[in-house]
Amino acid sequence: MTSSTESRSDSAGATPANPTGPSASFVVVANRLPVERVSGDGDDEWRMSPGGLVTALEPVLRQKHGVWIGWHGVPGEHLEPFEASGIPVVPVPLSGHEVTDYYEGMSNATLWPLYHDSVAFPEYHREWWDAYRRINRRFAQQAAAVAAEGAVVWVQDYQLQLVPRMLRELRPDLRIGFFLHIPFPPEELFQQLPWRREILEGIAGADLVGFQVAKDAHNFVRLLRQMLRYQTHRDRFVTPDRRTGRAQAYPISIDVNAFEELSNSPEVVSRAAEIRRDLGAKNILFGVDRLDYTKGLRQRIQAVGELFSEGRLDPAETVFLQLATPSRERVEEYKRLRDDIELQIGRINGSMGTIARSPITYLHTSVSKQELTAMYRAADVLIVTPLRDGMNLVAKEYPACKTDGSGALVLSEFAGAAEELRQAYIVNPYDINGMKETILRAVGDPPATKRRRMRGLRKQVTSHDIHAWADAFLRDLDAIRRPVAPNHGDEAAAG
Ligand code: ADP
Ligand code: G6P
Repeated sequence: MTSSTESRSDSAGATPANPTGPSASFVVVANRLPVERVSGDGDDEWRMSPGGLVTALEPVLRQKHGVWIGWHGVPGEHLEPFEASGIPVVPVPLSGHEVTDYYEGMSNATLWPLYHDSVAFPEYHREWWDAYRRINRRFAQQAAAVAAEGAVVWVQDYQLQLVPRMLRELRPDLRIGFFLHIPFPPEELFQQLPWRREILEGIAGADLVGFQVAKDAHNFVRLLRQMLRYQTHRDRFVTPDRRTGRAQAYPISIDVNAFEELSNSPEVVSRAAEIRRDLGAKNILFGVDRLDYTKGLRQRIQAVGELFSEGRLDPAETVFLQLATPSRERVEEYKRLRDDIELQIGRINGSMGTIARSPITYLHTSVSKQELTAMYRAADVLIVTPLRDGMNLVAKEYPACKTDGSGALVLSEFAGAAEELRQAYIVNPYDINGMKETILRAVGDPPATKRRRMRGLRKQVTSHDIHAWADAFLRDLDAIRRPVAPNHGDEAAAG
């Protein structure tokens, strides 16, 4: 593999890489490649990182000679296409400036907060938008260069909303799917976007558009009708070139078997016991999130802190373990959040801790899947309190790991997962008193009640795994009629 580094170039990756011709009959396009660099002797190697999406798509990628297109995460570094654990990947380079404007700016300081109920103030900058458009075109060109005639291309998430339409213009023969992993905002918020029409048209370039929950699919179709005057009927829409597309909910899930197996492994079982011993508490409350302001960390820490200070949770027998993965650390709101919660935790531990123990154990790090599984196994109560979340996979991973049927899940009603995980202890994270009462119930309910609830959660999660999610989306995409040239078909009759 060859690579070259440039410190500053806005024309990075202008020529799409295409070593073998347009030969892939299945193409995944995502902002990130699912790879991690492993340093060896001499040349670096890359291997697939074990995320849920990769696990779901790996069999399809292998079977259909698929390719994954995405950014490998290092600004200014050019890599040739290569294979990671046997899967061909095509890296899309981003210069330092493009990372600032397209990734940190438009994607994560405009779209991310706006789509999450504006829980942080979205910033609108025309130069960010220009970069977003330019980079989306780069991804589209790359997909057009590797996709075989009639291939299926599956575009992922909010960073690439313009790709479906751009790709269709380049390659009308393709079958294009788009899945939004985060919430789609209600009309009143979406209207704020100065580039709202272009984004809607961009997504509607797909034959099938997937959302986490049905409400978001309805919002999207309604906006197509009201803002773009598209003809629509239920989940179908017709574009001006008389193509029919569909928008539907496909709630994403996790690789349940892999979590169960790992959780039952002797290493994890003994590590979970060790974690319990090390924490030395009767009750372990647990939180694990990317350090993101959408996750409701301030409210969660406030609620737990008050329970300790009011003596309703006893630090001698209860500990709150909060694991926070570093994320988007150059974006202002993320820096502010880290400062805020570290101050909050410091105050709580400073006033209620003893030499022997602190009520909150806080780790600002990412851990291996094995370690995380052991933490899930060790935890008596998992607290998941996003202010808004597309799905929240953590809420599904916990029941999958609680193979002994113990444990309790406290879950925000504003996570997509709350629609399925009805047996969770549901909270409104803005209501601190309500959250405190519910946390106490999750800690203190009789074991039989908790077991019954956990059984319900496990049933839901084990019967809807990530493979079912990918199969359902790809089957529906396959079933959609091929695009037809304008005036040569009868596709305009939606429904
Ligand atoms: P988001 O996609 O917004 O980060 P999710 O809860 O849907 O939120 O997914 C987060 C994923 O990251 C989960 O699969 C979870 O296991 C993983 N994860 C979160 N925090 C950590 C951590 N500290 N170490 C390792 N994995 C983590
Ligand atoms: C969320 C988004 C993903 C994103 C991930 C990590 O899950 O939906 O698209 O990849 O967060 O964020 P990052 O900015 O590190 O890619």
